[in-house]
Amino acid sequence: MNIKNINHFQNLEIEDILQIIKKAKEFKEILNSKDKIKIKELKSTLELKKIALCFFEKSTRTKLSFEIAAKNLGAELINLEVNSSSIDKGETTLDTLKVIAKYGIDAFVIRHGLSGIIENLEKNINLPIINAGDGIHNHPTQALLDLMTVIEKICQDDLEKLKNLKLCIVGDILHSRVAKSNIELLSKFGVEINIFAPPTLFPYYLKIEGIKLMKNWNEVLDYSDVIMMLRLQNERMDNGFLPKSSEYHKYFGINQIIENRIREKQIFVMHPGPVNYGIEINESLNHYKNNLILDQVENGVYIRMAVMDYILN
Ligand code: CP
Repeated sequence: MNIKNINHFQNLEIEDILQIIKKAKEFKEILNSKDKIKIKELKSTLELKKIALCFFEKSTRTKLSFEIAAKNLGAELINLEVNSSSIDKGETTLDTLKVIAKYGIDAFVIRHGLSGIIENLEKNINLPIINAGDGIHNHPTQALLDLMTVIEKICQDDLEKLKNLKLCIVGDILHSRVAKSNIELLSKFGVEINIFAPPTLFPYYLKIEGIKLMKNWNEVLDYSDVIMMLRLQNERMDNGFLPKSSEYHKYFGINQIIENRIREKQIFVMHPGPVNYGIEINESLNHYKNNLILDQVENGVYIRMAVMDYILN
């Protein structure tokens, strides 16, 4: 195993991914055990390591969970406050990172609005970079925490069950880095992936072998063990992708009728967040036992601990 960066899954073997998930579960067990000695011991894992969090695009879950993960492992954090940085004076992203690298950093965690920027940065910065989401391109740690959640909550830790699992990704596939990373990761494990999306929000280059495009909710409900809803990414859309968000909710969201059928069939529901209530799902879905959204949030901390441990140790 000799991986410097976590940007996508092309250079990660299944064994590497399983090792990260196994480590995340170990961290979860220790933190949930409330065993003060073991929790304190964790803090020596990344002692004396400095991690720079550089979020050029907004985030709640990813940023905070990386922060908590780094603190749990005893790493020192350097947080780039983009709004008060010299970016506004015209300094480039690359120059900003080169400056930070000179302050004795061991690794970067970067979120950026430009798709593919991480590949470019990797060529110019000789330090590990963890991709925390780049434009509409990749969000690898989200896919890892999603996989961990699926293995834990749906497969009850039986990896063989993944090969029989049917998962449908619903919504704004075009602008979703989460969808792209999940398709890449979950298909490595034999999960059957289907898509249900408005034609304007489905990129046809994703029409890859094995991925079926569902025609309507009936097909989705008949053919899914788990439904992964996506956020409608209005900030990445000009006019013209959709008539109205209420129309979207009616045809592609989990409206009340669809929610009732999901509950009847006990289908699992995931969403990377943040959620737009009344568009992708209704708030009532928060009271559904097979809603895994907060499990995804929680596993984000453990996966990011495991990823930092994997990269830096
Ligand atoms: N899922 C996700 O990336 O959420 P944030 O944008 O809040 O980090």
